[in-house]
Amino acid sequence: MSNPQVKVNSNQLVRFGEGKQYMITTMGCQMNEHDSEVMAAVIENLGYRPTSNPENADLIILNTCAVRKKPEDKVASLLGKFYALKEKNEDLVIAVGGCMTQQKTSARYIKNRFRQVDLVFGTHALPRLPDLLDQARRSKITIVDIEEDYADREGLPVAPRSTFHAWVPIIYGCNNFCSYCIVPYVRGRERSRSFNDITEQVRNLAKDGYREVTLLGQNVNSYGHDLPGSVTFADLLSELNQVEGLFRIRFMTSHPKDLSPKLIEAVQQGDKICEHFHLPAQAGSNQILNKMNRRYTREQYLQLIKNIKTAIPGVSITSDIIVGFPGETEEQFLETADLLEKVRFDSAFSFIYSPRHGTRAAKLEDDITYAEKEKRLQYLNKIQQRISKEENDKMVNQIYEVLVEGPSKNDPELQTGRTRNNKLVHFKGPDNLIGRLTNVRISEARTWNLFGEMEGAVN
Ligand code: SAH
Ligand code: SF4
Ligand code: F3S
Repeated sequence: MSNPQVKVNSNQLVRFGEGKQYMITTMGCQMNEHDSEVMAAVIENLGYRPTSNPENADLIILNTCAVRKKPEDKVASLLGKFYALKEKNEDLVIAVGGCMTQQKTSARYIKNRFRQVDLVFGTHALPRLPDLLDQARRSKITIVDIEEDYADREGLPVAPRSTFHAWVPIIYGCNNFCSYCIVPYVRGRERSRSFNDITEQVRNLAKDGYREVTLLGQNVNSYGHDLPGSVTFADLLSELNQVEGLFRIRFMTSHPKDLSPKLIEAVQQGDKICEHFHLPAQAGSNQILNKMNRRYTREQYLQLIKNIKTAIPGVSITSDIIVGFPGETEEQFLETADLLEKVRFDSAFSFIYSPRHGTRAAKLEDDITYAEKEKRLQYLNKIQQRISKEENDKMVNQIYEVLVEGPSKNDPELQTGRTRNNKLVHFKGPDNLIGRLTNVRISEARTWNLFGEMEGAVN
């Protein structure tokens, strides 16, 4: 379905974006956020400048997500809005990229249904973006590039949106094929970035004033298995812990099936490595975990939590849960509810199962009514909200180091910072603290965040 007219010919590219503005709308996960930051830098190299107003844009990119039906549905309504803008600016270029368009059927649907779209490109096309945009702005027909060619992304520029925090991908793709999940199909097989490329990038970020990095991968624990030698994720963390000028290292996501004792030890020992694991459980019933192809049992998961909590006091653990997986009985669902009670996650994102075309689970009969799925979701949310509040209550009256992110979104009088264990804290403070560390004594705990007062010096 890729367009044979597309030729990579970067040498002849002119800065055709000079004097023009672009806007990127991003859906989905942090990996997509990061991809959008790469797109932004690539586009700015063509001369474009950013705008947040679609009315002023000469180029709009929609970076899509395919993980559930909801984000896919939103694409249609957004494209409808952008279509109207073309009437005022006929040179406006609309491009749709990301995980949804990496799938042949979705790419075809967008091309046929939204004829105003100039370019449809997949997750592997980033290195070809300048040439594709050049083609798209001249062509009368929609340009499509959804090749699964794993083109090398090393050396592409990136424009982080934050001045103190950066996303750093360490492994692309996923080999796990959880039976419900589309990600392995739209992101391809696992590819670890080289140890040196990552460490060099993080050193440069620290030199440029970045204080916090989040290492990204669908499963960071499998980092290195495809590299020569026997380098592991724990080795990478220990190396990055030495980077001068860096304050904090975060990482996500961890798959429970291969979270090693060495990794727990690295987090325990690395003074920059934050005490937080995003360790999605997905379900609490062994039969459902088996049908999901998660390759761990409820008992193994609980043991892992115990090991982490024993080794790392104050650690926070967050999770993703799916309710209403095909065939999930009331009893099996209640095992998930019980898992929440046993683990006591700091927070958990629960999702209603959404069949994804092409996955193994999509072939199973989706036999639970939507009303029942919603009931289960609300039941879990209620339990989790109580537990989150109770866990946050334990932090009251204690002093925590926070990295300041800037003024609070809801109350500009307050500053917002994040503790090492990833809790948001709002407090009164001067507004020149962005990217700096300060201590805050927690005075009030809520379900989603904390309030407190600054104490002591700022670093
Ligand atoms: N790589 C990560 C996250 C992938 S997607 C991991 O392994 O955990 C983020 C979350 O979306 C998943 O953890 C899962 O809870 C949810 N998800 C994925 N596919 C889904 C589907 N078909 N329906 C509902 N939720 C889904
Ligand atoms: Fe999807 Fe499973 Fe891979 Fe996560 S580990 S991206 S849930 S297939
Ligand atoms: Fe992320 Fe959605 Fe793709 S969750 S990897 S943007 S399918």
